[in-house]
Amino acid sequence: MKLGVNIDHIATLREARAINDPNPLEAVFVAKNAGADQITLHLREDRRHIHDDDVKLIVHTSPLPVNIESALDEQIVDYLCSLAPHRITLVPEKREEVTTEGGLDIESHYTTIREVIKTFESRGIATSLFIDAKKESVFLARELGTQAIELHTGHYANLCLMRESNLPHTHHSIKTMELSRQELYEEMIYTLDEIAQCAKIATSSADTRALECFAGHGLNYHNVARICAIPQISELNIGQSIIARSVFVGLEKAIVQMREAMCQR
Ligand code: PXP
Repeated sequence: MKLGVNIDHIATLREARAINDPNPLEAVFVAKNAGADQITLHLREDRRHIHDDDVKLIVHTSPLPVNIESALDEQIVDYLCSLAPHRITLVPEKREEVTTEGGLDIESHYTTIREVIKTFESRGIATSLFIDAKKESVFLARELGTQAIELHTGHYANLCLMRESNLPHTHHSIKTMELSRQELYEEMIYTLDEIAQCAKIATSSADTRALECFAGHGLNYHNVARICAIPQISELNIGQSIIARSVFVGLEKAIVQMREAMCQR
């Protein structure tokens, strides 16, 4: 199982003073030393953490493959084409959200997504689509000619959090707020099963359109092992929990500990 370390929140911390401290580029080399397989970053439309120059510098100097999350934004797509990173993950984006709240609505944006995939493909850049674990979305992704999907694990992560910590404040909690611990557990197992089924459909080689299947969002040291037990998922992209822990134990150790958590069964 590969681990992509999302370093957006190194830049979030940097923005507190805007004196390039901590420097996101330094995180790339620490992540490599710690055994990460990939660097992931999100160039948001509002540039709230990662900036254009960060992306350029990191793509040009990273010893690890760089996966950049991007909205369907013409200006950002053009810029990323000029940098030719290893992979682009297309994500939905809302200005007012705290973090990426759901997967791409492929049905509504089918034509635009297809054009953007083609644009990246013509530059030799692989693409992945960040989608909710819904079978219809996986079937649409298979039609679109992307190389991979990343399944949104946020709902699963929120259910784990609510069950384990009594926290009712998570973004996806509206419908689940009233549930008992047992009901939350059942919903969590159901959600995991949906993720597993989507991973199977995505990677099935019944025809030539088999995709690679990744997962991410809200994964932490407590909930990651169950996702790792899904054999069709080959890569996780994890940010917030690693960067949060790094404040106390250092980035290198936080990444090593995540690897250990990924291996626990
Ligand atoms: N994957 C995608 C597509 C994301 O948008 C994000 C958040 O930027 C992540 C993974 C990482 O999520 P988290 O920071 O909750 O680990």
